[in-house]
This record gives sequence, structure tokens and C-alpha cells, in this order.
Amino acid sequence: MKLDGCRAVITGASSGLGAEFARQLAPRAKALALVARREREMAALALEIQRAHPTVQIAVVRCDLADAEQRALLPGHFLSMGWGVNLLINNAGLGDYGSFAEGSWPRIDSMMQVNMNALTHLTHLFLPALKMHAPSGILNVSSLAGELPMPDFAVYAAGKAYVSRFSEALRLELREDKVSVCALCPGPVKTGFGLMAERPGENTPKMSSAYQPADRVVRDGLRTLERGSSRVFPGFIPRMTALLANVLPMPVIRHIMGRRPRRPRAN
Ligand SMILES: NC(=O)c1ccc[n+]([C@@H]2O[C@H](COP(=O)([O-])OP(=O)(O)OC[C@H]3O[C@@H](n4cnc5c(N)ncnc54)[C@H](OP(=O)(O)O)[C@@H]3O)[C@@H](O)[C@H]2O)c1
Repeated sequence: MKLDGCRAVITGASSGLGAEFARQLAPRAKALALVARREREMAALALEIQRAHPTVQIAVVRCDLADAEQRALLPGHFLSMGWGVNLLINNAGLGDYGSFAEGSWPRIDSMMQVNMNALTHLTHLFLPALKMHAPSGILNVSSLAGELPMPDFAVYAAGKAYVSRFSEALRLELREDKVSVCALCPGPVKTGFGLMAERPGENTPKMSSAYQPADRVVRDGLRTLERGSSRVFPGFIPRMTALLANVLPMPVIRHIMGRRPRRPRAN
């Protein structure tokens, strides 16, 4: 799909990669919808974008994506505005770093709701509009973590494996409908994500050498979608890690992941 003149819905647009998607799309988009819970951050971003690009239409929509009833209201909202959405960026997501057994169930549940259920539900809800306004696109923000079994990040990594596989299969299903589906699979990026994923009073091991800048990650994602390719791992280290994860035998991967630095265990 071509991004020029697109009418995009971006989830998780109140910070990090989502806000960067909005900034990078603004010079080319006709309309942008920012969706997340923090309204004040989205309103400030909308004002910044509107000042720099007065012709782009912007909507700020407060929605808790963990709540299926709130999600279900979104397509009607844009229909009533006459938008004809042709790009869905499923970017909202959160992590939870620490052992599965010691995790809080409401937090794990909310992570699964946002990272998997909301992404799948919104895709289902917006597909009629995306098909009607094809050529159109779905950009799902997955993660390099989805390529690996990750102790202390088990549910997050498994959820991102779901996002990557779902995107690949859907891409094949929608080929004839001219709806491109692409998975963006970043390694670590400096955003609010790391801090949010930390449990209170705990320190997550950092892989600072592998951090990619958010603007590069988003640029690679948009370029990959526009090119019609299926997925991208932005940056040399994430690309090599993904390659190894897909060619090494599972016993070797288990050995490596078992030795990965983990937070000290609580006594
Ligand atoms: N940063 C990384 O290292 C990294 C690496 C690989 C993949 N990713 C993925 O990149 C995506 C974006 O994360 P980020 O790095 O930009 O982190 P971020 O700055 O923490 O942004 C996360 C976004 O998700 C939204 N969100 C979380 N829970 C939500 C809910 N219940 N309802 C609505 N929105 C919700 C947040 O908005 P509100 O809090 O305002 O609701 C926020 O805008 C995620 O899918 C993440 O898994 C990140």
C-alpha cells in the first residue's frame, strides 16, 4: 500500500513507538487517529502535529484496549466521522518482566488482553473498512522476543510469537483483498516500555548495546509495509539474532536462553 493520503488508526499513540508512528505519518497522511488511555499526552501530540501539518485531520480517542466493550465502539466512531480507515497500526502493548510464578495475575491478564486479544479483535473489527478501502494495510507491532523462549519474559515473548504467526497467516488470507499485513519485530528500543515492564522494586537486566532508536524502528516498519514485505527486524543485532533463532536447533537455543542474565531471585 502507499502511505500518501492514508487514513490511519494508531493504537498506543500516547508515547514511544506509537507517537513516533504519528509523527512520521503526519506529513503524508490525510487523517490520523490516536488511540490509548492517556488523553493528555495524545492531545499534546495532536497539537504538535497539527501545528506542523495543518492539513492533516487528527482525532484523539481514549480507549482502554484491555476492555472488549470499549474496543468494539472504535470502528463506529470512525464510520460516523466518514473516515474510511485504510491503515491499522496495532502498536499498543506492555511487558511484565519477572518470573511467571511470582507475577500478578491481573497484570499478566491485562498484558494478554492488550498484546493479543485487542490486536486480534481490532483487526477483525476494522477488516470490513480495510477491505472496502483497499489497497490498505495492517502493521502489527510484534517483537524480536517472539522468536525466542524467554525466561522471565515468558508470557510477553509467547504473546509476540502469536502476533508474528497471526500476521503471517493473515497476510496470506488477505492477499487477494489487497490488504497488506506486516509484522514489525524490534529488539530493545528506548521508550517507556522498559520502565513499565519492571515490577516494583526490581531491576531488569539491560542490553544497552542492542538498543535501536525509535525513529529508525518506525521508519523501517513503515518502509516494510509500503514495500509489501511480511516482516522486519530493525537493526543489525536484532536481524542477526532473529536469523540465529530460526536456524539453530532448539536444544542449542534452550542452552543459550537458560544462561541469559536474569534478575536475582527473591528469597
Ligand atoms: N520498547 C521496546 O523495547 C520494544 C521492543 C519490541 C517491541 N515493542 C513493542 O512496541 C509496542 C509499543 O511499545 P513502546 O516501546 O512504544 O512502549 P510505551 O512507550 O510504553 O508505549 C506503549 C503504548 O501502549 C499503550 N497501552 C498500554 N496498555 C494499554 C491499554 N490497556 N489500552 C490502551 N493503550 C494501552 C500505552 O498507552 P496508555 O498507557 O496511554 O494507555 C502506550 O501508548 C508494544 O507493542 C511493545 O510490545 C517494544
